[in-house]
Order: sequence, then structure tokens, then C-alpha cells
Amino acid sequence: MASTDLQRFCDELRAKISIVDVVASKIKLVRKGREYQACCPFHSEKTPSFTVNEAKGFYHCFGCGAHGDIIKFEMEANGLTFIEAVEKLAHKVGMQLPKLTPESKEQAEKRASAYDIMEMAARFFEKCLRLPVGREGLDYLYARGFDDNIITKFRLGFAPNNNGLKAQLSSQGISDEEMVELGLLTIPENNRPHDFFRNRVMIPIMDKRGKVIAFGGRVMDKSQPKYLNSPETPVFNKRRILYNLNNAREKGYEAKRLIICEGYMDVIAMDKYGIGYAVAPLGTALTEEQIQEAWKVVGEPICCFDGDLAGIRAAVRSVDRVLPILKPAYSLQYAFLPDKQDPDEFLKAKGVDEFLKTVTDTMPLKDLLWRKTTENKSLQTPEQKAGIEKELKAEIAKITDETVRGYYAQEMKNKLRAEFLPQLSTKSSFARNTAHKDKISQIKRIKTDLDDLVARYIISAFVIYPELVEEYEERLLNFSIKDTKLKSLYEAILDIIHNGAEAPDETGLLASLDEALGQNWKKEVDLHILKKQCPDIIKMRKHLDERIIEVQLKRIEADMREAKSVIDSGNFTDDDYVRFESLKKEFNQLLVETDSF
Ligand code: UTP
Ligand code: MN
Repeated sequence: MASTDLQRFCDELRAKISIVDVVASKIKLVRKGREYQACCPFHSEKTPSFTVNEAKGFYHCFGCGAHGDIIKFEMEANGLTFIEAVEKLAHKVGMQLPKLTPESKEQAEKRASAYDIMEMAARFFEKCLRLPVGREGLDYLYARGFDDNIITKFRLGFAPNNNGLKAQLSSQGISDEEMVELGLLTIPENNRPHDFFRNRVMIPIMDKRGKVIAFGGRVMDKSQPKYLNSPETPVFNKRRILYNLNNAREKGYEAKRLIICEGYMDVIAMDKYGIGYAVAPLGTALTEEQIQEAWKVVGEPICCFDGDLAGIRAAVRSVDRVLPILKPAYSLQYAFLPDKQDPDEFLKAKGVDEFLKTVTDTMPLKDLLWRKTTENKSLQTPEQKAGIEKELKAEIAKITDETVRGYYAQEMKNKLRAEFLPQLSTKSSFARNTAHKDKISQIKRIKTDLDDLVARYIISAFVIYPELVEEYEERLLNFSIKDTKLKSLYEAILDIIHNGAEAPDETGLLASLDEALGQNWKKEVDLHILKKQCPDIIKMRKHLDERIIEVQLKRIEADMREAKSVIDSGNFTDDDYVRFESLKKEFNQLLVETDSF
């Protein structure tokens, strides 16, 4: 192995292995802001002056001046030679140190490292974006709303279609083999080599230290593939890298928040709106390694997904990734964007305040786990309940940390219990349950105004089929009618039905209403049309159900949001949970009823 190859091999180790991990395997580190601290292992001291900086990949002792990277640490802390240290680290990540071959050191040192070559390529793409050949790329970026500041900050560029990169790198003494190794050049069989990225807008991908290690290239039209990413190379390990972590790390410490979104463009768009703490995996599902990286910034990163089915599936998949590595105070939170929008589109449409509100209104991992396990499943019979319980237990068993596993087991048990509590299915029976009465009365319950159209519809239906009043009255308790004429009409109807000796039929009700209100009340309702539409009570009931369920759904949704905010505030009791779960159940039952229409 030539010394240059060894140098590259070491670069690869530094990219793959975290300095914090290496040091932490020897001494106990405590995080202080953006660095880790400890008492220096190289001199004796009582107060810590030894720091480890993940971003820079270095440790430094302010007391004795000890300073170095992962390799130096292994050498000094364990008394190894350089080669031994490299071998030990290589072993740690399953890499094999190839045999050293003699080659002139002088010549070797003249050669560029992988990082230097990637940097040359990044500069070339940046330059092209500003040349006539890159005009289309620049226009594309401007059209997406990225200005020169953003372009400079993220070092966006353009890859021309003329093998310009190969020409440029060759002129700087880089061989075709090196370009191929770094994924910059493709050599097709029986064909001439060509640039890997052609006619694309280029997004350089940096490691934690800000060194360019790969690229993503986006087409400017609708052709496929939309993005082309660098292949795995000695310096680029897709599984470990989070796009923009080099910038987001500091911002994330400051904001105590890290958003993991789906793509580069989302990260860049967020930055444009001042949200600098976003990162993204590189076109693959979130990996364990990436979660670990994110945890070095904050304990509970927010995974932000598009609110479509694909987004929810992706979220559920990340549950499988994270369960085995959960540890006390470390987890994931989930945010789902509405209307099938991605962050870029959402920000454009609704602005940064609304975006932050949505993104910070997160679902905790435990809720997603619950949802993953129970969704679309019936929970009626003992067997079904047992089945769910068993599945939940299997999920929880995947948590290796004992403490976290214990709390999850408890939490899920409570949830199961709440779910299976009898007679929580309707609001009224729920309210009758004295255990929850107090809590409910504490939460201010404002009646929801009924839309005038809906109110008119309901009243008309009641006049035509008075026997419906008893059926629906209770369900309407939480609603009020704004329009005063409609309101007094509704109250008059209830009055007549409640106080009459026997239930009136349509003619009887009409007469009583005339007596109570005079003749003009008929102007408020459209009995005629409705009677034609619903010639019998069955049809009427169906129409009424549809309308009432719709307003009930809206109402319950609002109540659920309120209940959830109580829970999210952290200051909640079991009852709050029960309330939330029962509202959710009620909501789902209504949805099922809607489906049966
Ligand atoms: P998206 O399709 O959501 O991309 O893919 P995006 O970031 O929103 O980009 P725009 O807004 O359409 O330009 C999410 C991520 O999946 C990877 C990329 O990393 C992208 O950022 N991806 C997507 C690919 O690697 N290849 C593709 O063809 C598409
Ligand atoms: Mn997008």
C-alpha cells in the first residue's frame, strides 16, 4: 500500500468513526453545549479541561495541550504505534488494512487526497453555474426561490453535459481511476469515459467537518431519475451521513431542536426561512447510524414527514429502526405535514410561523408505535384484545434498554386499559362516568355554533318527523344555534316535545308551533323541498346522520386537539389520557359510520 493510499484509508476511518465514540470508550464524557468534556486522561486533574469536538473530529486539553484525532487518541491513550492504532480502528468498522507496498513518499505526498479531489469538483460545479453553460441551472434555482446567498451558502453548482469535470480534474493531475473511485467518472464497457453527473444542478454533500464528500444532482425538468447521488466511495458512507449536519449541528444546539426531513431541497428551503437546524438522509430510509448522529445534537429530533400514506409508512419504518437503540432521554418525535405538501411547498404556501407550529406539534414515538400496532384492527373481542396485547409486547421486547422498556411496557398497559374501558364510546356516557366528570368540567366546554344551513336542515327534519327529536337531541347538546329565529324555533320544538302529554305527529307539531310562535316561523324552514327529498323517515334519518356526523367530527377533532395540548403540556393525569383516547375512539367510530353511508 502506498503512503497516499494509507492517507486515504485514514481519511476514510476519520469519516466513518466518531471521535466522541472513540474517546467515550476510554473515559466518561459529559456534553457541555456543543462540545464534550472530561477530566483529561493524559494528565492528572480534578476539574475537566479536556474537550472533544465532534464537528472538528478533534480532542483538545486546555490543561496539558494534548490534541489530536481518533488515530492520535488511540496511540496516546493505549500506547499503540500509528499502524497499530489504524489497524485497531479499522477492525472496529470491519475494514481491512491492505498490505503496505513501497512507493516513493515524495511522489505520494504530491498526490491529492480524496477530500481535495471532491473539493476541486465542488469548485468546478460552482464555477459552471455562473458561466453561460450553467445558465439553465441558475435559472432553475432562481425559479425555485433560491437566491445568491443560499446558492453560495450551500455551494450549489451545475454539472455541464460536456465532460467538463473530467477535463478540469485531468488538468489538475487527477487520474481517471481516482475519478472513478470517487464516483465522478463513469467508464462504460466498450465506450468512452464520461462524467457521472451531466446536465444537472449540483448539491454538494458535506461531512460533519464541512468537507465535500459526495454530490446529489437534480434534473431541471421532469425526467428521471430526479436525483442522482454519488455512489458509496471511500469517503462517502450513505448510511452515516445526514445532509447539512455540518451547519445544523450548531444551530440545533442553540435552538435545542433538530428537524429530520425527507430531502435536500427541503433542508435548503427551511434554511431560506431561517430554520437552520434541518437535516435529511440521502434518499434512503432513516438508518440507525443517522439516528445516532442526530442524537449527538438533541435527544429528541423531530422527523418531519409529508402527511401522505408514503410519509406515514416511512415514519412507521423508522419506528423499527429506533426501538432497539432507544435509551433514557433519547427518542424520536414525529410531525406530519398536511395536504400532501413537503416542507418546501408548505413554507411557500403558509409561511414560517405556520410551519413551525405544525412541525412542533409532534406525535411522540409511543403514539406512533400504538398506531402501528392497532391501526385497522378491531378491538372488540377478548381474542382480538389479546392479539393486540401480544403484538405490543413483541414490539416492546425490541427495546434493549431496560429502563426505557419498563416505561414502555407500563405506558402501553395503561393505553390498553384505557382503550378497553367499557362504555366510553359516546360522549354522554363518558360524561356520566363520575370518575371523569370533574376533569371534564374543568375543561371549559364552549358550545360549537351550528352552521345556519345545517341548523335549518335539522329543524325542518324535526318538524316533518317529530319522532326524530328524541333520537338526535342528545347528540346535539354540544351545539348551539346562532341565528335567533332558528334558535327560538328549535327551542319551541323541544319544549313541545318534552312538555306535551304525548309525542306529537307532524300535524300536531305544526299546530303547536303556530300556537306558540304565530304563522311566520314557516319562513325559516323548507319543509316542502325536504319532504320531496326524503319521502320517508329512513331516508331522512340517513341524510340527517350524514350532516350531524360531519359537525360532530369537527367538534371532536377540536376537543381532541385541546385534550392533546393538555397531554403535550406534560402536566397531565391518567384521566387526561383516558379522555383523549376515548375522544379518539369516538372519532374513529364516527368515521366508520360515515363509511357505511
Ligand atoms: P423528494 O422527491 O421528496 O425530493 O425526494 P425533494 O427534496 O423534495 O426535491 P424536489 O423538491 O422535488 O426538488 C426526497 C429525497 O430522496 C432522494 C433525494 O435525496 C431527495 O432529496 N431521491 C429522490 C433520490 O435520491 N433520487 C430520486 O430520484 C428522488
Ligand atoms: Mn420537494
